[in-house]
Order: sequence, then C-alpha cells, then structure tokens
Amino acid sequence: MIQLSEQVNQDYMVLVEDILEDEDFQSLEQYRQHVNSNRLQHSMNVSYLSWWLAKKMGADERMAARAGLLHDFCMYDFYDPANACQEPQILHHPKIAAETSRSHFDINRIEYEAILTHMYPFGPKPFSRVGWIVSHADKMSAFTELTRIRVGLSRKGRMIPVCGI
Ligand SMILES: [Fe+2]
Ligand SMILES: [Fe+2]
Repeated sequence: MIQLSEQVNQDYMVLVEDILEDEDFQSLEQYRQHVNSNRLQHSMNVSYLSWWLAKKMGADERMAARAGLLHDFCMYDFYDPANACQEPQILHHPKIAAETSRSHFDINRIEYEAILTHMYPFGPKPFSRVGWIVSHADKMSAFTELTRIRVGLSRKGRMIPVCGI
C-alpha cells in the first residue's frame, strides 16, 4: 500500500489510482534508482512533476501523469550483471518499460511513445509535448534524487509521496 502526503493534489490522484494500486507496479519499490531513491519513489516524482508541467503548459495532464509514472516500469534490477543484454540499459530499459506498461494497462500511443523516448538524447527523440515533458521531468527528478534536494518538492501544493526509502 502506497501512502501519500496530504499535499498530493486529488486531481492528480484520480488520474493514476489504478496504476498505484497494481501490485506489480508497487514492486518497483525494491529496486534502487539514482543512488538515493528507489524506482517507485522516482517514478512518482517524475509523474507528479510531469502532471504539474503539463498543467502549466496546457498539455494533456492525464497522459503526462500516467506516462511519467510508467516510464521506468521494469521489474528487474538495472545494476545486476545477470540482467545484462546486448545493448546498454540506458537504451534498453525504455523498451521494456513501454512493453510492460502496455501489457498491464490500457495506454495510448502517445503514452507508449513518451515512455519509449524518455531517455533522449540517449535513444529516440520525443515526438509529442507529453514525451518532452516526461523526458525533462525524468532528468529533473534524477538530479534532485542524486543530490537529495527535497525541500522544493515538499512545499505545500507540490508533493511528495511518503513511502519508504
Ligand atoms: Fe529511465
Ligand atoms: Fe527515470
């Protein structure tokens, strides 16, 4: 069960509730991400930031929130040599995340491609505003997680999920 801060906007919650309730999605908590975070926490950071950016920019908030949440939906450890494949994980994991998302949830083409292109400039370029938003939100979130900057995101009206790190 994921516990969220009371500051998380309910308008956001209704867009992603079904994903947050999914047990496979919740299993992302077990994987480390960006040294100081886990994949579940990181995915929620990217999702909430994508939703907020989409609101500000007049882009589709639902697609941004959902693609942001699913952009790293890979149920394996990126750092385990046993999961190594022919291409580097930086290029490989978006493909796995897009396919895993499609097999678990009813995602549309824009959401699928936003997941697939989130690592740009590593890999293909985003083609939609939602794709650009998710790609930027991913980098911004990775930076805050690496540097443990939480203050800005904790302010009232912003976020942050309360789940174990
Ligand atoms: Fe990623
Ligand atoms: Fe990510």
